[in-house]
Amino acid sequence: METVRSTNELSSWVESWRLENRTVGFVPTMGALHEGHLELVRHASQLADRVVVSIFVNPTQFGPGEDFARYPRNEDQDSELLQEGGCHLLFLPETSTIYQEGHSTCVEVDTPAKRLEGESRPGHFRGVATVVTQLLNLVRPSVAVFGQKDAQQLAVIRRLVRDLHLPVEIASHPTVREPDGLAMSSRNANLSADERTAAAAIYRALSSARQRIEQGERSAEAIRRGLREVLEGELLIDIEYAEVVEADNFEPIRRLRGSIVMPVAVRIGTTRLIDNFSLEID
Ligand code: PAJ
Repeated sequence: METVRSTNELSSWVESWRLENRTVGFVPTMGALHEGHLELVRHASQLADRVVVSIFVNPTQFGPGEDFARYPRNEDQDSELLQEGGCHLLFLPETSTIYQEGHSTCVEVDTPAKRLEGESRPGHFRGVATVVTQLLNLVRPSVAVFGQKDAQQLAVIRRLVRDLHLPVEIASHPTVREPDGLAMSSRNANLSADERTAAAAIYRALSSARQRIEQGERSAEAIRRGLREVLEGELLIDIEYAEVVEADNFEPIRRLRGSIVMPVAVRIGTTRLIDNFSLEID
């Protein structure tokens, strides 16, 4: 595995592979890598001949009171994991490489970025859409892989790639979970033992909602109420949202049909966690 920090080095590697007719897959991350990220890397290596991973804790997608400063950073361990995980090129840019002096262009996606995460974290998706567009333009992969764990982010990126006619295929990978169902996240490390136990209620709430839908429940309101009831059973959990939305635009629905997502965001102590289940309803 090669590690590069400048855009020139990145381009020369990617260009040399292109001259050899090798396809390039790309997995953008913010580091503090876990099995969820590594699954994306494995997925990318099945879709392309060469895999580029970026690690960049993108300051513009964090709001003023958010955890940018304490976001876990672990370059050496990440690098080892990627080496073993089948990554060919690790791109580790400085902030000044991505946001050059005088940077003043942003990418703003409307629907599906407006609600939920868009409301809870104003400016978050502008930061994500901007950095992902920049990274896609720098790496120019034929395919980029994103996790379904961040379902709204995935919908936003699909929309921006379509709307801006970016020449890249967007692939997705299912959420990788701990044995009790908690979605793997770099932020899980911030949970105390009690908070970690409480966090398992997110998966329980989503599973029980899915079960009710499988048994025929079609009222979105009933499903929302059910999600809240399970989450409210844990005193350490503060619900930010627990919703049922259409998968492509993330707008709320009344009757369940077609492709739906149940996105959940909670606070446990000072840690914010998100998760979701996606379902197809006939
Ligand atoms: P980060 O949170 O590091 O996540 C990088 C990728 O890993 C995302 O596509 C995310 O959905 C995926 N991922 C995280 N946890 C996962 C899990 N448990 N199972 C499967 N996939 C998982 O998402 C970002 O970084 C940033 O917003 C980024 C896209 C890099 C832009 O800065």
